[in-house]
Amino acid sequence: MNTGSTRGGRARRLLRFSVTAVLLAILGSLAAATSAAAPAALDLKAGQALYATHCALCHGPSGLGDGPSAAGFATKPSNLADGRLMNGLPDDFLANVITHGAPAEGLSPGMPAFGAYLSEVQIREVILYVRSLASPPFRAAAVLPIVAPPRAPTQPIFFSHLIHAGKYQIDCQYCHADARRSEYAGLPSVERCLGCHKIIGAQDNPEIGKIQEYARREQPIPWVRIFKLPEFTYFTHKAHVRFGLACQACHGPIERMRVVGAETGPSLTNDLMNLIGLKPPPRPLTMGWCVECHRAQNAARGARAPLDCITCHH
Ligand code: HEC
Ligand code: HEC
Ligand code: HEC
Ligand code: HEC
Ligand code: HEC
Ligand code: HEC
Repeated sequence: MNTGSTRGGRARRLLRFSVTAVLLAILGSLAAATSAAAPAALDLKAGQALYATHCALCHGPSGLGDGPSAAGFATKPSNLADGRLMNGLPDDFLANVITHGAPAEGLSPGMPAFGAYLSEVQIREVILYVRSLASPPFRAAAVLPIVAPPRAPTQPIFFSHLIHAGKYQIDCQYCHADARRSEYAGLPSVERCLGCHKIIGAQDNPEIGKIQEYARREQPIPWVRIFKLPEFTYFTHKAHVRFGLACQACHGPIERMRVVGAETGPSLTNDLMNLIGLKPPPRPLTMGWCVECHRAQNAARGARAPLDCITCHH
C-alpha cells in the first residue's frame, strides 16, 4: 500500500512535471511565434529610399509639401514635416492613407493608393521615415489611438472629427455653438462649413463637393442623429456645459473618431444582467446613467443636479 501510494505519488509528480514541461514548451513556442510575427526591426534607411522614389515628387525632399509636382494639385500635398498637425495622427491613419489613398479618410484623391506597390513592412518603413522629418519631433508615446465606436451610421458626407477636432483642433463649440446657451448643442449649418470649404478642398475633393451641392439646392445636410433621448424626457446642454463637464464625459473621445457612433439607451442585455444581480455600468442616455452621475456630482462637487422625477420628466 505504502509503496503503491509512493509510486502513485511519484507518478503524479512525474505527470505534473511533464504537463508543466509541455505547457512551458507550448508557451515557449508561442512566445517564439509571436516574436517572429512581431514586425522585424524597421529600417529607417529603407524608408528614406522608398520616400525618395515614391513620395518626394509631391511631398518634397523634406516633406514640406513642395515637391516638383505639388503645384499641379488644387489640394496641395500635405506638409508631412509639420509636427503640430501630423504628430497627433496615429500610424494607422497614415498607413490607411498610404495603402488605400487619401479618400479612405475622406481626403483629396490627389493622394494615390500605394497598397499595390508597397508591402505592409515597406509602408511602416516609409511612416518611420516620415515621422523622423517632423518638427516638433514625433513622440510615439504621446499618440492616442483612433477610436472606432459601435453603431456609427453612414452619414451623407464623410465628415471626420479625427481631422477637424483632432488634427486641426477646431474647438467643439465652434461648430456646436449652441451648447453653452441652449438645450441643444446644435449642428453646424451649411454656411458654417462653407466658411472654410468655399476654398479648402472645394475643387478636387468630392466629399467636400457635396457641401456645395447642398448649398446650391439650399438644403440642410441630412445628418443622421446618434445621441437622442425619448420625447418624454428633458435634457439641457447649457447647465452641463456651464458646470464645466467636458463634452467627452458624455459623448466619449469624439476627436479620435473618424465616424461618430455610440451604444445608447436601455438594452435587454443590461436589464437581464441587472436582474441576476450583476451590476453592469448603465448605458449612456439611460435614466440610470443620468441619475448615477447626478448623485456622484452632487456628492463630490457640490452640484445641484436634480434627482426628482419632475425635472427630467415634464
Ligand atoms: C501624386 C502626388 C502624391 C504622391 C506621389 C504622394 N502623395 Fe501623399 N498626399 C498628396 C496630396 C495631394 C495629399 C493631400 C490630401 C488632402 O489633404 O486632402 C496627400 C496627403 C498625404 C497624407 C495625409 C496627411 C494629412 O494631411 O493628414 C499622408 C500621410 C501622405 N500623403 C503620405 C504620403 C507618402 C508616405 C507618400 C509616398 C509613399 C505619398 N504621400 C505620396 C499627394 C501625393
Ligand atoms: C474652421 C475650418 C473648417 C470648418 C468650419 C469645416 N471644415 Fe472641413 N476641413 C477643414 C480642413 C482644414 C480640412 C482638411 C482638408 C484637407 O487636408 O484636404 C477639412 C476636411 C474636410 C473633409 C475631408 C476630410 C474628412 O473630414 O472626411 C470633409 C468631408 C469636410 N471637411 C467636411 C466639412 C463639413 C461638412 C463641415 C461643416 C459641418 C466642415 N467640413 C467644416 C476645415 C474646416
Ligand atoms: C468642423 C465642425 C465640427 C467640429 C469642430 C466638431 N464637430 Fe461634432 N459634429 C459635426 C458634424 C457635421 C456632425 C454630424 C456628423 C457626424 O455625426 O459626424 C457632428 C456630430 C457630433 C456628435 C453627434 C451628434 C448626434 O447626432 O448625436 C457629437 C456628440 C459631436 N459632434 C461632438 C463633438 C465634440 C465633442 C467636438 C470637439 C471634440 C466636436 N463635435 C467638434 C461638426 C463638428
Ligand atoms: C451631461 C452629458 C452631456 C454633455 C456634458 C454634453 N452632451 Fe451633448 N448630448 C447629451 C445628450 C443626453 C444628448 C441627447 C439630447 C436629446 O436627445 O435631447 C446630446 C446630444 C448632442 C448632440 C446632438 C444634437 C444636439 O443639437 O443636441 C450634439 C451635437 C452634442 N450633444 C454635442 C455636444 C458637445 C459639443 C458638448 C460639449 C460642448 C456636449 N454635447 C456635452 C449629453 C451631453
Ligand atoms: C457626467 C455627469 C452627468 C450626466 C451623465 C448627466 N448629468 Fe445632468 N447634471 C449634471 C450636473 C453636474 C448638473 C448640475 C449643474 C449645476 O449644479 O449647476 C446637472 C444638471 C441637470 C439638470 C438641471 C438643469 C438646470 O437647468 O438646472 C437637468 C434637467 C439634468 N441635469 C438632466 C440630465 C439628464 C436627463 C441626463 C441624462 C440623459 C443627465 N442630466 C446626465 C451632471 C450630469
Ligand atoms: C436625471 C434625470 C432623470 C430623473 C431624475 C428621473 N428620470 Fe426617469 N428617465 C430619464 C431618462 C433620460 C429616461 C429615458 C431613458 C430610459 O428609458 O432609461 C427615463 C425613463 C423613465 C421611464 C420610462 C422607462 C422605460 O422603460 O421606458 C420612467 C417610467 C421613468 N423614467 C420614471 C421616473 C421616475 C418615477 C422618476 C423619479 C423617481 C424619474 N424617472 C427620475 C431621466 C430621469
